[in-house]
Amino acid sequence: MIDRFRALFGTAEGMRVFRAPGRVNIIGEHTDYNLGFVMPVALQLATYVATAPSSDGKLRIYSEHRREMREFEVMRIGAELPAHQWSDYPVGVAQQLLRAGFGIQPGNLLIRSTVPEGSGLSSSAALEVSSALAFLNGRSLEPLELARVCQRAERNFVGMPCGIMDQYISVFGRQNSAVEIDCRSLEHRDVRLPSDITFVAVNTMVKHALAGSAYKERVQECAAAVEDLKVRFPNVASLRDVTVEQFESVAHLLPPVVARRAHHVVTEDDRVERFVEASERADLDLMGKLLVESHRSLQNDYEVSCAELDFLVDTALGIDGVLGSRMTGGGFGGCTVTMVRADSAAHFRERIAAAYEEKFQVVPGIYSCEPSPGANEVKKFETIPPEL
Ligand code: GLA
Repeated sequence: MIDRFRALFGTAEGMRVFRAPGRVNIIGEHTDYNLGFVMPVALQLATYVATAPSSDGKLRIYSEHRREMREFEVMRIGAELPAHQWSDYPVGVAQQLLRAGFGIQPGNLLIRSTVPEGSGLSSSAALEVSSALAFLNGRSLEPLELARVCQRAERNFVGMPCGIMDQYISVFGRQNSAVEIDCRSLEHRDVRLPSDITFVAVNTMVKHALAGSAYKERVQECAAAVEDLKVRFPNVASLRDVTVEQFESVAHLLPPVVARRAHHVVTEDDRVERFVEASERADLDLMGKLLVESHRSLQNDYEVSCAELDFLVDTALGIDGVLGSRMTGGGFGGCTVTMVRADSAAHFRERIAAAYEEKFQVVPGIYSCEPSPGANEVKKFETIPPEL
């Protein structure tokens, strides 16, 4: 990165590098914006932002992946409007940092990433969090505030009404543990994963155009469900507040589509709690079963799956050593996450890749999901993965 930085900007003097990981969500899908529970792990796949000050009043951001440089006047960064492209993520973050009282200094930024874009592994949050650290350039910001600034950038500037999960896990990821997040209290706890299993993400390599609009629609449908449920249960402020029993007692009163959406969210919150307990007891069968239930619920009730994801899940369940599988992330493409016995992982990778390629004539990306640490400054350059 030093050589590249120097080639792009003339000098790498004072350069620092910040890293923020992507994530795979193990269970708890579409529950975060309903203030419920999620259980992601931070990945080794990460975005790296190298930065050094400049003296000409400009902010230059170069994306290695896009091979594109964007240039801004630092003085006017607060007034920038979305350009509907990759630079909206760092620019949105810069604006939110300004609002939080952190001046943005003139500087050069070089962005490199190993998180595949559009894969449901949260390349956006990785870019937001690593950019925020680069803009802060050593100034301290509470980790929770860091996650919230980045979430606000995505919601208010990029225009995607996301929950807090992706930014939170990118900041709070833990090596060797999954993290259960309570999306209302914004507290978390580390969750031990049994040692004889491993999680593998398989990328459909598709992102259907529906993804963005359907996400917004689901957010609205959940809000509509809350309004309806409030009539019967006045203390309900979000779907998080509704138990499965309460929901079942009134489900027939809701419009059918709204009822199915809410059914997913209410049962998914319950599955997260059961999964966490099962994981701590190393009850592999129950864990696997909950993953599959989660997928079926996303497929049939929440309707955010697609043919490619369903094929990957159904195929995975027929492969030796697989305990469970589900789509992960927002849906309509991206990845599945599969829980597999550690000694069957290589066999699983081979079989699933061959089956997917035969069916869709596309080679799927396959990533191991070792739980990795949250965002940090990269101080030892030799710790950057070799593919960089
Ligand atoms: C996207 C959003 C998250 C979350 C997931 C679905 O990744 O960014 O906030 O809602 O979808 O669980």
